[in-house]
Amino acid sequence: MEADLLYQCGLSDESVLIDIGCGSGRLALALASRFNGSYLGTDISPELIAHARGIVESKNFEFVETVGLTIPAANNSVDFACFFSVLTHLRHEESYLFLEDTVRSLKSGGKIIFSFLDFSQSSHWAQFEPILNALRDGKPSPVNQMMSHDTLCRFAEYLQVEVVAIHDGATNYIVNSEPKISGHEESLVSLGQSVCVLRKR
Ligand SMILES: C[S@@+](CC[C@H](N)C(=O)[O-])C[C@H]1O[C@@H](n2cnc3c(N)ncnc32)[C@H](O)[C@@H]1O
Repeated sequence: MEADLLYQCGLSDESVLIDIGCGSGRLALALASRFNGSYLGTDISPELIAHARGIVESKNFEFVETVGLTIPAANNSVDFACFFSVLTHLRHEESYLFLEDTVRSLKSGGKIIFSFLDFSQSSHWAQFEPILNALRDGKPSPVNQMMSHDTLCRFAEYLQVEVVAIHDGATNYIVNSEPKISGHEESLVSLGQSVCVLRKR
């Protein structure tokens, strides 16, 4: 579904794509058989980077361990940058700095696609509640960061990028190219998390 979403946003074999917080290589594996552009997966976890490298060996796919909130790419060099379920675990200030450096790395017209936990989606409250309960009980709480649409619009204003789309998690909008593989029979699907698409002017 993440791969289909990127193609729907315009990904092509001429694209330079950075997958920030690539984790175990889930998206890279889905793209490996169909994407001939340049893919770079980054993550702070050396174990996950090693795993991703182990499952995707295509020449045009690279993985690097990173530190902090910066993008390992030159200015104006990237067509697509995606964060799937990554900003969901960072403070708003950290997400803003990450997005700021991502904008630096994007070509004009380049896009950022990120998924987020959305206050407008009642199903996402299930991610908020465990934090409330942990705090009530004086226990350590997970970092599940919720966002609202006006936060995204304000970020976009200060980052001087255009908001192309905000897709609600509850609405199916991704054309499902591989129903058998994804395990979802529907022709339109959703990630569950909401998705924001930004474009550099
Ligand atoms: C919930 S996982 C999602 C993994 C992957 N995007 C996916 O959809 O399967 C979040 C990932 O973000 C990574 N991460 C967290 N902070 C990061 C940072 N500052 N830079 C790069 N990766 C980060 C974590 O190590 C983890 O692999």
